[in-house]
Amino acid sequence: MDKAISLVISELERQSTLQRGGKVAFPPDQEMLAITYDTGTFFSILIQAIKATRILEIGTSSGFSTLWLADAVLSVMKRKKQRPAIFTIEENPEKAKWAEANFRQAGVDKMIEIIPGQALHALRSLRRSKAVFDFAFIDADKEHMIEYFDLALSMIRVGGVIAADNILYPEHFRRHTAKYVRHIRHMRNIQSVTVPIGMGEEISIKL
Ligand SMILES: C[S@@+](CC[C@H](N)C(=O)[O-])C[C@H]1O[C@@H](n2cnc3c(N)ncnc32)[C@H](O)[C@@H]1O
Repeated sequence: MDKAISLVISELERQSTLQRGGKVAFPPDQEMLAITYDTGTFFSILIQAIKATRILEIGTSSGFSTLWLADAVLSVMKRKKQRPAIFTIEENPEKAKWAEANFRQAGVDKMIEIIPGQALHALRSLRRSKAVFDFAFIDADKEHMIEYFDLALSMIRVGGVIAADNILYPEHFRRHTAKYVRHIRHMRNIQSVTVPIGMGEEISIKL
C-alpha cells in the first residue's frame, strides 16, 4: 500500500473505531459511517483483479473508502497506462471539505473529483457526459439504492463491478437493502452475491 495513503487510512480507521464503539460523541458533520478495514481490503483485491481505473463512488463522507479505492487504482496503474479517474459524490459540504483535506494529505487529490450535491442529480449529469466506469460503490442514503444502481449500471462497462454497502447491517436498513437485492437478482445481465464482510456487501458484475 502507498505509504502516504496508508498513514491517512490508519488515522481515519482509529477515529472510525472510536465512533463505532459509541463511547465518544461526534457532531453529525464528523460522523464517518465508514466501511470496515476488511471491506477496504476486499474492494482493493476486486479492483486489482478487474484492473479498474475508472471509479464511481456514491457517498464520500471522510473519504476513507475513497482512499482504499485510490490506492487500489494506483496499483493497477503501475501495470496499465490509463488515466485514473475517481468520481465521488457527497451532499454534505462539511464532509466534502474533510474528504478533500484527507485526499490532499494522502497525495491523491489530483486523481479524485468530489462532486458536491445530490447523488441522483450528479449521476444523471455524469450519464449525460457519457462517463464510463469499471467499478462503482454505492454507500449513500438507502432509500434510493435501486435508482443509484440502475444509473451506475448504465455507465459500467461489461465485466465491471458494482458494490453496495450495509446489505446486512445495521438491521434497520434491511427493508431497503432486501428490495435492492431482489431488484438485482431479477436481472439477466447481472451476476450478484451478498458477501458477509464488514456490514455486508452486495457484489454485482455486469455480464
Ligand atoms: C455511509 S457514509 C459514506 C461512507 C464512505 N463511503 C466510507 O466508507 O468512508 C454516506 C455518505 O453519503 C452522503 N449522502 C447521503 N445521502 C446522499 C445523497 N442523496 N446524495 C449525496 N450524498 C449523500 C452522506 O452525507 C454521507 O457522508
